[in-house]
Amino acid sequence: MKKIVILISGRGSNMEALLAAVAREELSVEVAAVISNRPDAKGLVTAAAQGVPTAVVDHKTHAGREAFDAALAACIDGYTPDLVVLAGFMRILTEGFVRHYEGRLLNIHPSLLPAFPGLHTHQRALEEGVRIHGCTVHFVTPALDHGPVVVQAAVPVCDSDDEAALAARVLAQEHIVYPLAVRWFVEGRLRLVDGRVMLNAERALPAALVSP
Ligand code: GRF
Repeated sequence: MKKIVILISGRGSNMEALLAAVAREELSVEVAAVISNRPDAKGLVTAAAQGVPTAVVDHKTHAGREAFDAALAACIDGYTPDLVVLAGFMRILTEGFVRHYEGRLLNIHPSLLPAFPGLHTHQRALEEGVRIHGCTVHFVTPALDHGPVVVQAAVPVCDSDDEAALAARVLAQEHIVYPLAVRWFVEGRLRLVDGRVMLNAERALPAALVSP
């Protein structure tokens, strides 16, 4: 069975969605470890309660990005994963780290990239007055919130939305598309070839990938 390592920094709801998909046998993968850069990440408690090995590589105890990324990579590689899944991992990664995991490093971002890279995506979407917002699963490249897109889910922006309402609508879609993308990868249907996504997905994607 293929192995994944999930990196988190906080709440870990995407990690939970992945663990739930495994528990429901919709995703056939061994979650070898959940690793956080923050010792107080709530997701660590959730993972441990489900019997998943956890580890902390605290960025505050490392001198700089290079040292932190080297320690993080050593920790990850100890679990020999086939795929590394960034799930709310709030650290900018060095080019060396990203290159080391080229083609086997996925991220989920709460916007329809290339719109709204960076932070506060939902608030910015509201301020711009866009009518469609969503989330993106992508292979990670050295540029922040950039990289070949695997799957996106779109949601409407409603006149009554505040940041929390819009974030919740997007998050529900994140929890659908991330397990799907990981499943495609571990089933060998998703690959990165010469910087392009090669995807042999189901013909009929769930309607949720288009609208809620
Ligand atoms: C999600 O919105 C994800 O897209 C972004 O950070 C958030 C993490 O949430 N990268 P959670 O920790 O998975 O609940």
